[in-house]
Amino acid sequence: MNISKFVTPEIIFGCGSLSQIGGSALRLGATKVFVVSDAGVIKAGWVDIAIDYLRQAGLESETFSALTTNPKDNEVDEGLAQYLQSGCDAIIAVGGGSPTDVAKSVAILATNGGELQQYEGINHIVRPLPPMIMVPTTAGAGSEVSQFTIIVDTARKLKMSIISKSLVPDIAIVDPELLRTKDRLLAAATGVDALTHGIESYVSLAATPLTDIHALNAMRLISANLRRAVDNRDDIEANTNMAMASLSAGIAFSNAILGATHAMTHQVDGLLDHHHGETNASILPHVMEFNLSTNPHKFAIIANALGKDTRGLDSSAAAAQSIEAVNQILEDVGLAKGLAEFGIKEEMINSLSKNALNDACLVTNPREASLEEIEAIFRRAL
Ligand SMILES: [Fe+2]
Repeated sequence: MNISKFVTPEIIFGCGSLSQIGGSALRLGATKVFVVSDAGVIKAGWVDIAIDYLRQAGLESETFSALTTNPKDNEVDEGLAQYLQSGCDAIIAVGGGSPTDVAKSVAILATNGGELQQYEGINHIVRPLPPMIMVPTTAGAGSEVSQFTIIVDTARKLKMSIISKSLVPDIAIVDPELLRTKDRLLAAATGVDALTHGIESYVSLAATPLTDIHALNAMRLISANLRRAVDNRDDIEANTNMAMASLSAGIAFSNAILGATHAMTHQVDGLLDHHHGETNASILPHVMEFNLSTNPHKFAIIANALGKDTRGLDSSAAAAQSIEAVNQILEDVGLAKGLAEFGIKEEMINSLSKNALNDACLVTNPREASLEEIEAIFRRAL
């Protein structure tokens, strides 16, 4: 018997949809809302606007923003302490993947207690979480729709993947207007993260026809819009398409999980505190090369989705075009860089590879990878 599950939150999508935040929180029974964000998003003005909409709906709020890129377990502890003394009964994230993952992690500990490390892996959350609404300000992480939260374990210097249906937010409010305030590098890095989500979920061992539709939609939209969205962050059409791409990729990977790129990237991010999307950019083409022979047909479809004409090519040449297409995108958005540029050295590879072997995302990679094979991929990505 072949059984699969598919989960998504309620999704409110479109320019101006941030205005729905107050009514959405009320529908979930909130009386006081814990808003998780970061300094950049607050500076851009989106948190003030969100709080104003909450106030118009008669809702009090309290803001927590003491978090960094690649959010850490100690930041979650700080957020939890503030949540518990705040009297809040719902959690809203306004931001990219970092505030969203902190919001989810505070929610876990608020009702389940203990340490975040207890919930690492798949399906260890037992009690229901407080109501959650996620409002993304980047087009990439997909955390607003996913059953993932990724937090750095500061003692082990790696990223923990916590995966559970309980982490699917109640409502995702995706307003493409909010993408305007990103800088060029953030637009490129988050877009490449979404591309990686689309590709890894499409070839994942847990992919289903339902996840394939969303993964392919994401890849097509990214191929046609990421360059425009990076070059002009006021391009509302490109932003709307990238918001939809990120949402689709998020739905795909939430249900099909990911692969070796993310298993490896999590270790680099945890060690160097480097931007997740940029790390993906360095590793993705090399993992694709490693995986190519497992399913040339699907990689040829990826090549087509990314704009390559594969007519007349044999199966392996058509599949290889998918890597060509990814490298072109990386080149065009300025992210064709090796890991050495970010400080990864040969002597770090063994320990990074050992940690990658234990990452939950490796389980669904289409080709089983040994320690030596992961080390070899890291070396090629240097
Ligand atoms: Fe990612």
